[in-house]
Amino acid sequence: MLDINQIRKQFPILSRKVNGHELVYFDNGATTQKPNSVITAESNYYQNENSNVHRGVHFLSGLATDKFEETRITIQNFINAKHSHEIIFTKGTTDSINIVASGYRSLLNKGDEIIISELEHHSNIVPWQMCCEQSGATLKVIPLLDNGTLDITEFGNLLSKNTKLVAISHISNTLGTINPIEKIIKKAKAVGAKVLIDGAQAASHISINMQNLDADFYCFSAHKLYGPTGVGVLYGKEDLLNELPAYQGGGEMIKEVSFKKTTYAGLPHKFEAGTPNIAGVVAFKAAINFITGLGINNIAKYEEGLLQYATEEVLKIEGLKIYGTAKNKSAIISFNIKGLHPYDIGMIVDKMGVAIRTGHHCTQPIMDKFNIPGTARISLAVYNTKDEIDICINAIKKAKMMLS
Ligand code: ALA
Repeated sequence: MLDINQIRKQFPILSRKVNGHELVYFDNGATTQKPNSVITAESNYYQNENSNVHRGVHFLSGLATDKFEETRITIQNFINAKHSHEIIFTKGTTDSINIVASGYRSLLNKGDEIIISELEHHSNIVPWQMCCEQSGATLKVIPLLDNGTLDITEFGNLLSKNTKLVAISHISNTLGTINPIEKIIKKAKAVGAKVLIDGAQAASHISINMQNLDADFYCFSAHKLYGPTGVGVLYGKEDLLNELPAYQGGGEMIKEVSFKKTTYAGLPHKFEAGTPNIAGVVAFKAAINFITGLGINNIAKYEEGLLQYATEEVLKIEGLKIYGTAKNKSAIISFNIKGLHPYDIGMIVDKMGVAIRTGHHCTQPIMDKFNIPGTARISLAVYNTKDEIDICINAIKKAKMMLS
């Protein structure tokens, strides 16, 4: 059992007021709030430890490097990767996907195929479109069923010996669907395809285990995991990262530079050109420790209870429709109310201190599929409560009354 009051006390922002009301923060799919341990780790780094990594012989440089590398090991353990050099620090999930998609531009040829799905975030669509444009490969799309799950039979039909890569999100940021990635990975492997998983919405909600999963690449962001913005992870299997062309050239990623020929550093440095977000990476460790301290399975169980309660309660609002009704769902509820624009609902509940997201959520193909301009979205995290859900539902009811 998690002590949610105790957890909430660790997040200073949760006790602030917005528009004269206690903040109810239900936009965790966009970014999570940060506990004191993360905020302190970041400021402590600048107060006591700041230096550049891997560059100097002096004390502070050694300290910054040690702290930076400690986070890499923490993440290796968190996702059960085989090697710490399979963890590449990036700017975020989008950056991680772009590193792989950019590398595949020169690994793919005409006739090769990439499979994505209709429920992807734009960041797991556009990089592959760019990759296909430049490599001559073809992009195929797994269709979405009405309940917000993927058509796995059709996925089977799309797979062939031409499939070189399958890029799928673990959890849909708009519909909450937890995709059956174990099954997807197995099927893709059977035709020799590699698999990239966009784990942006998964890593802070459910357990992820690289060695069990057998994903080739897995991407996620620190900021959706109670950590700082501007830091992400690209996990890749050692041999595949070695084969993947370098993304950016510069300092740190080289072995030797001459005007005749430059050779690149080994993993992970080959993909970490330039000075990284050192403070962010250092504080990321505190975020992972926050999660492991609570236990990811406890978090998953608690959030499942919140989702169930919130789903039952919102459905009591007349005219409200939920998009994404998969059985296996994360704590995300996208909805519309008949005759109302989601933007108006979002604006009015904000006046009552309730933060939800409205719009297409960077998933325009999902909006096209359901023929809607957008949705209002509630996305929950471990510090949210049933009381907050009640406040949110009342605010939605008031918004409905005002707008009808
Ligand atoms: N991808 C983030 C969201 O779903 C920004 O809100």
